[in-house]
Amino acid sequence: MRDNIAIDGPAGAGKSTVARQLAKRLGYLYIDTGAMYRALTWKALKEGTKVTDEAALVDLARNTSLEFKEVAPGEVSVYCDGEDVTRLIRSPEVSRHVSTVAAWPRVREEMVKLQRDLAARRKVVMDGRDIGTHVLPEANHKFFLTASLEERARRRWQELIAQGNKFSLEEIKREIEERDRRDSQRIVAPLRPAPDAVIIDTSNLTPEEVTEHILKTIRKNC
Ligand code: C5P
Repeated sequence: MRDNIAIDGPAGAGKSTVARQLAKRLGYLYIDTGAMYRALTWKALKEGTKVTDEAALVDLARNTSLEFKEVAPGEVSVYCDGEDVTRLIRSPEVSRHVSTVAAWPRVREEMVKLQRDLAARRKVVMDGRDIGTHVLPEANHKFFLTASLEERARRRWQELIAQGNKFSLEEIKREIEERDRRDSQRIVAPLRPAPDAVIIDTSNLTPEEVTEHILKTIRKNC
């Protein structure tokens, strides 16, 4: 599991774009762990399971099949109980509730088991909030991407506008700020860089520049 690449950071720091590019360049599998928490949240909302009920969410997680299917190098679709939910899990409603679901310790245990199983089977680029600190602490390559709140909100807003959603930049900024607060303050595996992570501020960098920087760092350390 040592060759795996862990990429952590707050919402909108550019993790998924960079992780996808890295997976493609290296021939690794890309695992978006946020998508796993999102898929569970999506199912809970659909089935009327309360996001405040830890026991019910654990039960739901144990009775849910989550799969990643590689559709092209670096491009992965997410399936929940056999249904392609790749787009559905990006909805603003899921975004509003996911950090509440992800704060439950026993829900996290279920997700981390799955994440470690996936990483044991193939070399992975895994992105999330606790990959370097908790899920794959033995990974040789750990990166923590950050960017200013303004820049992160602007990126998310542009993505949503491009998909035809109507939100103000202020609304997106508030949602991201609230999610970061919950993710950083939760008791179990909060958002923070691993002591041995390379921290990269992506505010003034393109995703390609970040990917090149990471590849150079990896080559230097090998
Ligand atoms: O990466 P993304 O923004 O899609 O993640 C959605 C949410 O899932 C995060 O805000 C966080 O609450 C949760 N998450 C987590 N641990 C991870 C990945 C995501 O708690 N490893």
